[in-house]
Amino acid sequence: MNEFEFYHWIAYAWTGLAVMVFILLFFVQAPYGRFTRKGWGPTMSSRWGWVLQEAPAVLLILGFWWTGDRRFELVPLVLLVMWQIHYVHRTVIFPFRLRGERRQTTVLTVLMAVVFNVVNAYMNGRWLFFLGPHYVDSWLMDPRFIMGFLLFWTGFIINKHSDHVLINLRKPGETGYKIPIGGMFRFVSAPNYLGEIIQWGGWALACYNLGALSFFVWTVANLAPRAFAVHRWYQEKFKEYPSERRAIIPFIA
Ligand SMILES: NC(=O)c1ccc[n+]([C@@H]2O[C@H](COP(=O)([O-])OP(=O)(O)OC[C@H]3O[C@@H](n4cnc5c(N)ncnc54)[C@H](OP(=O)(O)O)[C@@H]3O)[C@@H](O)[C@H]2O)c1
Repeated sequence: MNEFEFYHWIAYAWTGLAVMVFILLFFVQAPYGRFTRKGWGPTMSSRWGWVLQEAPAVLLILGFWWTGDRRFELVPLVLLVMWQIHYVHRTVIFPFRLRGERRQTTVLTVLMAVVFNVVNAYMNGRWLFFLGPHYVDSWLMDPRFIMGFLLFWTGFIINKHSDHVLINLRKPGETGYKIPIGGMFRFVSAPNYLGEIIQWGGWALACYNLGALSFFVWTVANLAPRAFAVHRWYQEKFKEYPSERRAIIPFIA
């Protein structure tokens, strides 16, 4: 089997696994953040967990770019910059903005995220920088790229703004939970997840390949079930929780 065949084999298996995870996560919440609980093995610092689990997404994509055969072509470079702006922030800025400094996460969640980021970096980076067809520069003017690019940055802004609101709910040293207000929280309980889904939907459109599509499917699989669990959690915890607020799709669900 050559690498091209291997890649496609992995892509279908990996996307199929995402569909199974999507169903499973409606019944079991991943044990981190507000759903951290006993019985899931050893724990570690939540902050350093984020750094460790997201670092492969930054480093491997750089490695695939550097060892690829289209290092200085325009479209791969634009896509590389989009990816890295997100992942450098997620790896070295986001974790150090978190409050509730002593929060713990399970080592299991971190290890699963490492595996996800390694496979996802391969699926995206290896295709973009070596296995896939070369993009012509005019792809940047293609309606699919333009729409994807706009969606990517729209999702990025919603995601970052919503995470910013959540992080600032706590004063330094606080650890509890409050009702978030403002921005997209007017409409949904998990706008950070909504933004992330829009962002990687945009990425899938801008790249227009199987690896990017599988990333989008995985993002929905990880975050949509959790958004519903978070929404129920808020409704149970706060009697005064806004009744018009939905879980993840404004006005709908
Ligand atoms: N692409 C993917 O598959 C994927 C998967 C997972 C996460 N992510 C992204 O990673 C980022 C973080 O995800 P997450 O699941 O950790 O988000 P989260 O549960 O919403 O938490 C984000 C931060 O805000 C704090 N927080 C949340 N709700 C709060 C409240 N009501 N009051 C006070 N503080 C609150 C959390 O504290 P605690 O940690 O103490 O709860 C945490 O520090 C998001 O942008 C998400 O989209 C992406």
